[in-house]
Amino acid sequence: MPSRITIDYANVMASAVGGADGLTDVDIDAVVGTAAEETRRIWSEYAAGEQRWMALPDNTALADELSYFAEAEANEYHDLILVGIGGSSLGAIAAIQALGHPFRNLLSKEQRGGPRFFVLDNPDPEKVAATLETVDLERTLVNVVTKSGQTAETMANFLVVKNALEQHVGRERARQQIVATTDPSEGLLRQLADQEGYRTFPVPPGVDGRQTVLSAVGMLPAALCGVDIHGLLRGAAAMRDACRSSDLRANPAALLAAIAFLADTQKGKSMLVMMPYGDSLFGIADWFRQLWAESLGKRLSLTGEEVFAGQTPIKALGAIDQHSQIQLYTEGPNDKLIFLTSIEHYRSQVTIKSTPGSLPDLAYLKGAELGTLLDRERLATAWALTKAQRPNLTISIPTIDAGIAGELFFMHQFQTVLAGGLYGVNPFGQPGVEAGKNATYALMGREGYKSLRDELLASDPVSGQYLAGPAA
Ligand code: PA5
Repeated sequence: MPSRITIDYANVMASAVGGADGLTDVDIDAVVGTAAEETRRIWSEYAAGEQRWMALPDNTALADELSYFAEAEANEYHDLILVGIGGSSLGAIAAIQALGHPFRNLLSKEQRGGPRFFVLDNPDPEKVAATLETVDLERTLVNVVTKSGQTAETMANFLVVKNALEQHVGRERARQQIVATTDPSEGLLRQLADQEGYRTFPVPPGVDGRQTVLSAVGMLPAALCGVDIHGLLRGAAAMRDACRSSDLRANPAALLAAIAFLADTQKGKSMLVMMPYGDSLFGIADWFRQLWAESLGKRLSLTGEEVFAGQTPIKALGAIDQHSQIQLYTEGPNDKLIFLTSIEHYRSQVTIKSTPGSLPDLAYLKGAELGTLLDRERLATAWALTKAQRPNLTISIPTIDAGIAGELFFMHQFQTVLAGGLYGVNPFGQPGVEAGKNATYALMGREGYKSLRDELLASDPVSGQYLAGPAA
């Protein structure tokens, strides 16, 4: 199956937006060699058993197992709570938002296919309490997802849900209603799952959380919500084939990586806006935001020098953000590269049958189809941005289906890993995230974190707020 995604980057070129802000073929040619080397390196590491995220599209046996599980369980349950944060929830949310009905929780069970879907990521007491008030605990399946098995937000939310479940249905039944997705052998959640006898699925070892969307992390909740997970994998595999080419201009992910890298490092575009023209792709923009930020935002280069690399990802939604952000994007600081996503065929067609004869100024909408309007808004935005010398490109997809979602997931992951090579940073690992996690453990009094806690409390601002705050 060939890739169905195309990229039009004419509007990032100097010929469209001027030499100060746009790229020339010479600029692009200057990274052709490095991009080709990086592509070959990534592929040879994959062949040697590294870059394990790239193998996920081949795991059809896991997809079979998850589909079987989902088929058996989805009818049993009225509600599904996904407990997880960051890479442990954003992929599932993105897939379900892209491929499920926008109001699936409001539909009947038959219409929505599978349980209603709730996510507990933030340990926000108001949201957690509201979720527990809303679900039917007797008929709730809980999927707790954490790669490390110990993230404070996830474990806290999970313990609250577990306690509520046990109180409601008893410990034995609660065990049956909990499915843990975590490391196959390590971590606190793994220990608890083994002790309690929870059913478990693995977070693949050697794959960072933000690259797990095509593993059980993303695919179990997606399958339970009726997503065609085999289609996701097929699409990802098709994109993987397209990412084989060491010819930058023939490899969509390498092209996106190179353009973003050059725009950032040579043209001062320190921000990358992902702006799809379709509500259902907003979750993918959010998922990408984490991927791009955590992978490339690095203090140290591969050779250990301080580089403070990274390009700030921003999510926006067409056409809504034309009425919110585009003023800034067209007239504010010229520091952004904008990725628009065009959708050739929206899954629904809605036509304006008539307009009031008394308002001739609305006649232009008579017979208009909303998808056409939305797509013309995209065209108009691309034109306005270009006219204001703001580089932008368009990622075109024929429609939104499981294959396309799989392609987008794989393409942006390859783009990100390759961009790491161009920036000369390690796109894996997230030392900045770990620092914050450890500080949280220390402030919450976790055993083993005493010296960090002492260090934190010796710092005036932390100490002052800690002693005054609700947790003190
Ligand atoms: O990409 C990552 O590795 C992180 O964003 C993690 O997904 C996030 O911190 C949650 O970690 P965990 O899955 O260990 O609970």
